[in-house]
Amino acid sequence: MSSQRVTDETDVANDEAIPAVEAIRSRRSGHNFDPEAELDDETLEELIRDAALAPSSYNLQPWEFVAVQDDDRLAEVVELAYGQEHIEEAGTAILVVGHTEPETADRVFEEWVEAGRFDAETGEQVKEQTVAGYQSEQAGRDYGIRNASLAAQNLLLSAHARGLTATPMSGFDFEGMAEFLDLPEDKIPVMLVAVGPSGGEEPARLPRRDVEEILHRETY
Ligand SMILES: Cc1cc2nc3c(=O)[nH]c(=O)nc-3n(C[C@H](O)[C@H](O)[C@H](O)COP(=O)(O)O)c2cc1C
Repeated sequence: MSSQRVTDETDVANDEAIPAVEAIRSRRSGHNFDPEAELDDETLEELIRDAALAPSSYNLQPWEFVAVQDDDRLAEVVELAYGQEHIEEAGTAILVVGHTEPETADRVFEEWVEAGRFDAETGEQVKEQTVAGYQSEQAGRDYGIRNASLAAQNLLLSAHARGLTATPMSGFDFEGMAEFLDLPEDKIPVMLVAVGPSGGEEPARLPRRDVEEILHRETY
């Protein structure tokens, strides 16, 4: 382990989890869930812990997660997701929610200062600049979506590495879901993730565009 690496309780490896590159390369948006098996509470919390380790602008962590597991409520989520029944089969639907306002700024910039990463004056200046940068409606939405999407991807990879199946979804009624889950006005639905024990094989992955087609060097 390099001396640069920060260790804390979140650094504990799960012996059974598959390595990161393998997880990235074998992850799928699965639709085959075992309807008889359920996600236990401890695993749900581990998934959220992993999601929250995603990078975020100044570590502001502008995300929250709403997990729905009650059968009747899941049926409503399916309806709001235009009948995507795999959500019910998964047994757990997690709405990844983004903040549109940097409401964690006071606390987080204090942590930067406490950790000695900024002096108090710089911390205050950077905080003010950051908060000012998210004033417009578009900047606020971009902020929420950009950061919370990374948390969603962490969640997907963590689920997959733990042998679960997970599917990201934006095919749902955003306003209806926000209302159903009682999101405050300044929070937006970013991604719905169906997650649960796998029911077996998934169809082959569709092709990805070649690196030559998507990698630009020096300029677009
Ligand atoms: C933003 C976004 C929205 C998606 N919406 C849905 C959805 O509503 N329902 C669904 O079954 N899959 C959805 N997917 C999954 C994609 O269909 C899937 O990622 C894509 O086909 C590639 O397959 P793979 O993830 O298995 O590699 C979505 C994925 C993303 C990133």
